[in-house]
Amino acid sequence: MIRGTASIVLALAIAPVAPGDKKSITLPGDNAMAELKSGPGVDVVRASCVACHSTDYIVRQPRSEAKKWEAEVKKMIAVFGAPISESDAKVIVDYLSSVYGPQGSRAEPDARQQKQERK
Ligand code: HEC
Repeated sequence: MIRGTASIVLALAIAPVAPGDKKSITLPGDNAMAELKSGPGVDVVRASCVACHSTDYIVRQPRSEAKKWEAEVKKMIAVFGAPISESDAKVIVDYLSSVYGPQGSRAEPDARQQKQERK
């Protein structure tokens, strides 16, 4: 009896995996709040604005005009000590006020663009 059980266990352990039996699953995209929408200057924003906090802080803000974004960027520099040059600050404000400006689309990034960017 013991021998019988042992051989069943052994048979299961060495049972070959049927070829063509591979399964795959497709995972949903990453948290949309963790991505910045693409646009001119996005690299500068990524380099300058995610050292201290996640992109959520930016992505979750209400769409705003340049004046508000400029104040935000100035605050990061003056109050929190973000090491950002004046020329980079301008690029960042331009990016934010166009991509996350009043005319900008909703917070969700374009999934297709994001995929291409990650390459
Ligand atoms: C030196 C660190 C640092 C850098 C770099 C930085 N931030 Fe911040 N940021 C902070 C801190 C600290 C807060 C406040 C966090 C809190 O209140 O919980 C903040 C908050 C924010 C907020 C939320 C609103 C507010 O005013 O509190 C936004 C939007 C924001 N940052 C945008 C940016 C942008 C855009 C950049 C790039 C230009 C940037 N941050 C770079 C430190 C930084």
